[in-house]
Amino acid sequence: MIIAIDGPAGAGKSTISNEIARRQGFQLVDTGAMYRTVAFEAARRDVDLGDADAVAKVARSLDFEFRFEEGENVTYCDGRPLRQEIRTAQVSHDASIVSAHPKVRDVLVELQQQVGRERDSVLEGRDIGTVVFPDADVKLYITASAKVRAQRRVEQMRDQGLEADFDEVYNEIVDRDRRDSERDVAPLRQAEDAVRIDTSEMDIDEVLARVEELVAQYS
Ligand code: DC
Repeated sequence: MIIAIDGPAGAGKSTISNEIARRQGFQLVDTGAMYRTVAFEAARRDVDLGDADAVAKVARSLDFEFRFEEGENVTYCDGRPLRQEIRTAQVSHDASIVSAHPKVRDVLVELQQQVGRERDSVLEGRDIGTVVFPDADVKLYITASAKVRAQRRVEQMRDQGLEADFDEVYNEIVDRDRRDSERDVAPLRQAEDAVRIDTSEMDIDEVLARVEELVAQYS
């Protein structure tokens, strides 16, 4: 069974995907972590991020695994767990560059299809329901207003002891949404047959209850 979860950053997609995978006992394939890892490794190897062929070569050289350990989904690359090092602002920026290369996407999409076929999976990303698994059993598009996403991000940053300015964060989100939806390759868009869940006015338990209801209908 394949559960496809797409949507913009900050809508609660990761929290929902992690929890649904845990409850169902499914593998979680965090495809954003894969783009992040390619960006991280390319930078570490001094590869020019604008060189699509060189970055695609890095992508092909990596061995990904998705494990569930001590209550947490962890992405492994070449036998090493990847955690905060792929969550920095620099890696977020670099990941948006490498993910715009069709050649890089081709490599990662094929890997995602392979790992998804091996086990019941939740795949989380931007193009799962449209490109990677257009025939997924359950397709969700999780979104929230830019204002709510900015507010959540500001709170998250302040919780981590970081300074955060609402207007700055909001403008970044609006810009990123525009770039993601207007890019030529696999732009962020809702699949026609995806169920749209707007989490702006919902708390996490309400969203999870709704998702579980949908999953139960299909399984
Ligand atoms: O979801 P995230 O922030 O971890 O994603 C990191 C980057 O990868 C972000 O720029 C969007 C991009 N991405 C993508 O293009 N396609 C996916 N399936 C997942 C992520």
